[in-house]
Amino acid sequence: MLLEVKNLRVHYGKVEAVKGVSLSLRQGQIITLIGANGAGKSSILKAISGLVRPSGGEVLYEGRRIDGQPPNRVVEMGIVNVPEGRRLFKLMTVRENLRLGAYLDRDSRRVADGIEEVFDRFPILREKQHQPSGKLSGGQQQMVAIGRALMARPKVLLMDEPSLGLSPKMIDEIAALIVELRKAGLSIVLVEQNANLALHLADHGYVLETGSIALEGPSDRLLSDPEVARAYLGA
Ligand SMILES: Nc1ncnc2c1ncn2[C@@H]1O[C@H](COP(=O)(O)OP(=O)(O)OP(=O)(O)O)[C@@H](O)[C@H]1O
Ligand SMILES: [Mg+2]
Repeated sequence: MLLEVKNLRVHYGKVEAVKGVSLSLRQGQIITLIGANGAGKSSILKAISGLVRPSGGEVLYEGRRIDGQPPNRVVEMGIVNVPEGRRLFKLMTVRENLRLGAYLDRDSRRVADGIEEVFDRFPILREKQHQPSGKLSGGQQQMVAIGRALMARPKVLLMDEPSLGLSPKMIDEIAALIVELRKAGLSIVLVEQNANLALHLADHGYVLETGSIALEGPSDRLLSDPEVARAYLGA
């Protein structure tokens, strides 16, 4: 197993946001976490990333415990978060934002090559590389956020609601991109409120309700589950 979360707990003060969640991700797989606002999805990704310290449980990466490691160590090991809401530096240029994704890399040649690879993947970003990232459309900003994550040359990508606020056309582009990234060898944990999209992309899904896994299974099974359809697919 590439990444394993075992009985993870996250508290904010006395509030328990994640109440003993277990997940596993194999090499080359896409898993998705779906669930309503406040279910604890982002908290799980933040705990994996080292951005919040779990109050219980374990995170294992390639068989080794990584919970409690600082975020920069987790990035170095190959796990990179594309945060909810993109979190770009809006006054900095597209190019500068991309460069920040490789802040741990001292090899300036490799960083420059990485930026070119991102531009090859997202040609529109090459055109806009000297513009402040805040001037770009929502979809283009999501490309910058994903590109910035790719700059760290991850093995595992944690994606927090990449489709949020995007036009249907842009959602299709992001979906196609996720498929391509998997083909390129990445393993992905996809958090989405758009359950339909997420389950069509993922191999395996987890339905999160108020900090606990209510249901899990292969995506096609969840897609045909009447309970999931009623609660999450707008059917
Ligand atoms: N920094 C924080 N301090 C206190 N409570 C927090 C903090 N971050 C999240 N919470 C609470 O923890 C719970 C889970 O939040 P989380 O952001 O993980 O949910 P989510 O599933 O990602 O929701 P959303 O769909 O809105 O992004 C919520 O009740 C939220 O209010
Ligand atoms: Mg969230």
